[in-house]
Amino acid sequence: MDVYVLKNKREASQKAFELIKQEMDKGAKTLGLATGSTPEDLYDIMTNSHVDFSDMTSVNLDEYVGLTPEDPQSYAYFMEKHLFSKKPFKQTYVPNGLADEAEETERYNQIIKDNPIDLQILGIGTNGHIGFNEPGTSFETKTSKVALTDSTIESNKVYFDHEEDVPRFAYSMGIQSIMESKKIILMAFGENKADVIQKMVEGPVTEDVPASVLQKHPHVVVIVDEEAGALLNK
Ligand code: GLP
Repeated sequence: MDVYVLKNKREASQKAFELIKQEMDKGAKTLGLATGSTPEDLYDIMTNSHVDFSDMTSVNLDEYVGLTPEDPQSYAYFMEKHLFSKKPFKQTYVPNGLADEAEETERYNQIIKDNPIDLQILGIGTNGHIGFNEPGTSFETKTSKVALTDSTIESNKVYFDHEEDVPRFAYSMGIQSIMESKKIILMAFGENKADVIQKMVEGPVTEDVPASVLQKHPHVVVIVDEEAGALLNK
């Protein structure tokens, strides 16, 4: 793992953007994209850049089960608002939160197979989840319907009017599919991520901290701000 500790979220996002451009110059065609507050600055930088994404395909990590793409809390809506409406891609994929479980997981696995991910962008949950692969998830999973843990519901309730409104399930790309990406950039910002970043980078590889699996991937870049990197042994 290459770890960069940068001054703040903006500088860290700028670094991630430079790496995306480098990969595109080398021929990357498919980006794996994430939602949440973590990639917001990156998408802003992409939006305001002169880089043309109209030949690129994107595959998003996850979506809440039961939300329509028009629902402002859905990840499809988030992507449209922060990136796709401003920077056209050739093709974008987000799991369909309304679809039948068996059909959707099969469809999404096929999409990932047909569009091998050159560069996957990841955030991380405070409990170490990547996508919505919660602690305890097997490293062998492909796309599946997952139950959100209480801590994830707690973290994500800020985006909803009431805690009861937070969906209890999501469709998520699996850890195995994430690990098949050729290159991965994981970003994390703020002191509430410091503990999990230390565990992910320096702790044992364990299903209790899903992101720790990334230690086994040959091309991972971790980009954090000073707060999220505060507990790392430098
Ligand atoms: C969410 C998403 C993840 C995201 C993480 C962190 O629940 N499923 O893909 O990386 O939690 O979110 P944030 O970036 O808002 O801290």
